[in-house]
Amino acid sequence: MKKLRVLAMMHADLVPPDDISGLTDTEVAPYKTEFDVVSTLRELGHHVRPLGVLSDLGVIREAIADWEPDIVFNLLEEFDGIATYDQHVVSYLELLRAPYTGCGPRGLMLSRDKALAKQILSYHRIQVPDFAVFPRHRAIRRPRRLHFPLFVKSLVEEASLGISRASIVENDEQLAERVRFIHQRIGTDAIAEQYIEGREVYVGIMGDQRLKVFPTWELLFTKMPEGAPRIATRKAKWDFAYQKKWGIISKEALDLPPGMENLIPRIAKRIYRSLGLDGYARMDMRLSEDGQVYVLEANPNPQLAYGEDFAESAEKAGVDYAALLQRIINLGLRRGARPA
Ligand SMILES: Nc1ncnc2c1ncn2[C@@H]1O[C@H](COP(=O)(O)OP(=O)(O)O)[C@@H](O)[C@H]1O
Ligand SMILES: [Mg+2]
Repeated sequence: MKKLRVLAMMHADLVPPDDISGLTDTEVAPYKTEFDVVSTLRELGHHVRPLGVLSDLGVIREAIADWEPDIVFNLLEEFDGIATYDQHVVSYLELLRAPYTGCGPRGLMLSRDKALAKQILSYHRIQVPDFAVFPRHRAIRRPRRLHFPLFVKSLVEEASLGISRASIVENDEQLAERVRFIHQRIGTDAIAEQYIEGREVYVGIMGDQRLKVFPTWELLFTKMPEGAPRIATRKAKWDFAYQKKWGIISKEALDLPPGMENLIPRIAKRIYRSLGLDGYARMDMRLSEDGQVYVLEANPNPQLAYGEDFAESAEKAGVDYAALLQRIINLGLRRGARPA
């Protein structure tokens, strides 16, 4: 295998130390993905240079001009603290003619806005929860077609930011309160969706012309009392103690209803193509109790830490972590510096 010069682009606060021995899981958690990617690519023999980016494009331009990497490994999820600017940084890489890993600006933009993505998916007859957008600085009025219970979240944020038990609302008063919470505390427009009760599954997928779909993964709450809503709140995703308390784990989805084993990967591929995704992605879906598949969102460049859902489901399909990162690089190199 050819040894490459890989510029690993990441948030400046998340540039990992070379050695994490002696550190606790909690200490490593913030930069675990960055550490796993950099150390594994080095184990593969690549020459890896981590590049911390905060609010200055100049550092990217200089690193590319001075060091001439074969590829930029994109681990950046925001620019200057603004999550929606990630797509602009990727556009900048394209303008510099620098090959990079993961999704291009078009796919990032189309999937970021949870309403726009749903509009495109429903055009392609992919089932999504009914929804309405509640922009900031406007009266909060529920369209009559939208029935309770509803689920309120940020239109564009990720990682379950602003999601808790209170995201499920049962009446207009609770709806208005939660929409205001998103406007004020998260600082973005809000979307309210039909609340889908049921199993929560994640589907990893990668490729360009040919797509590889990994086994369907399921989020389980093994110690949650009967009747308590099972949703991937901020705490469920990131708080180790909370995960332990409620037995929150994820693993291959077993005993799917008849037909779903084939249907889910087919839907994942259709989402990937409909939203112009490339590189790698993870689709979040819910299987309702009446046997329907609903798409919650598409995540281009999903969380890539070793042992997390995407990498675990790849491993189950026979693609170990090092091989997964190498494939991600190969896809980036194959696309090259030209726009799709
Ligand atoms: N319409 C919905 N019905 C039921 N649960 C939902 C719905 N939308 C979101 N959730 C819950 O909230 C979690 C986070 O929502 P998601 O849209 O995936 O946003 P994020 O980008 O923060 O991951 C989901 O994993 C799911 O548990
Ligand atoms: Mg999600």
